[in-house]
Amino acid sequence: MTNLEELVQEINRFEAIISEWDESQRCVAVGLKRAIEALHKAALTNLIKSLKQESMSALRHAVSDEVVYAVLLYHELVKPPKPPLAQRIQTALEEVRPGLKSHNGDVELVAIKPPDTVEVRLIGTCSSCPASTLTLSQGVEQAIRNHCPEITKVVAVNNNPTVNNTNSGLISPFSPQITSTWIKVATIEQVPEFGILAVQIAGNSLILHRQGARVICYRNACAHLGYPLEKGKFENGIITCPSHGFQYKLETGECLTAPDVSLQSYPVRIKGYNVFVQM
Ligand code: FES
Repeated sequence: MTNLEELVQEINRFEAIISEWDESQRCVAVGLKRAIEALHKAALTNLIKSLKQESMSALRHAVSDEVVYAVLLYHELVKPPKPPLAQRIQTALEEVRPGLKSHNGDVELVAIKPPDTVEVRLIGTCSSCPASTLTLSQGVEQAIRNHCPEITKVVAVNNNPTVNNTNSGLISPFSPQITSTWIKVATIEQVPEFGILAVQIAGNSLILHRQGARVICYRNACAHLGYPLEKGKFENGIITCPSHGFQYKLETGECLTAPDVSLQSYPVRIKGYNVFVQM
């Protein structure tokens, strides 16, 4: 029986020797290796085609051999093994996390219920946001389905009250955290009329929109998954999020795609030529 490890070690040994050669010799050796590999890949592709037509069970049996599998994998003629389900779910959640975090929210895995169900918990502001159903269905659920096609149900379970309390937004009016400041963010001319200006102020990303002498300010975060809006298409007073196409009326911040949500606005004051925003 041929040992895969020994065969691979032998190849590595020769590759190490070749890597010490000067460039022109190395190119010849690498060229020869590629040509042989191309020949093998073509032969293996034809072999798989014939086996598929004759007998799938014979093909499966052949692929179950570790040497055959390793060579087919090397030539990308079989799919690499999938990571375990739990790992794929975590990868999916990692994908949506930045968007949720930009809204001070997050998501955590609660349970995997084979064969097809996953329970998650939306936490932070996501848990109480009117858009949480959308966040779940279009963000979290979509990402999980992309990575784990076997999962068909993603269920949001009750929120953890401990987590919620710290994020409920019900802060005492006497809390030292409640302070607001008017900050100069731009001059009137810098904000294009019927256009958008994106600014970074005190760690916040904002968009400014001007209609004549009126300037409106929103947080530069889509109400869907929190991705920035400033690169979105802007037409007839409507901005379209470049990520998944949610549309907003810039005059009011209302969302035309999901009427329950809207852009987060900030009070604006004009003094002379300067635009101030209350943060
Ligand atoms: S982040 Fe999804 S539409 Fe904007």
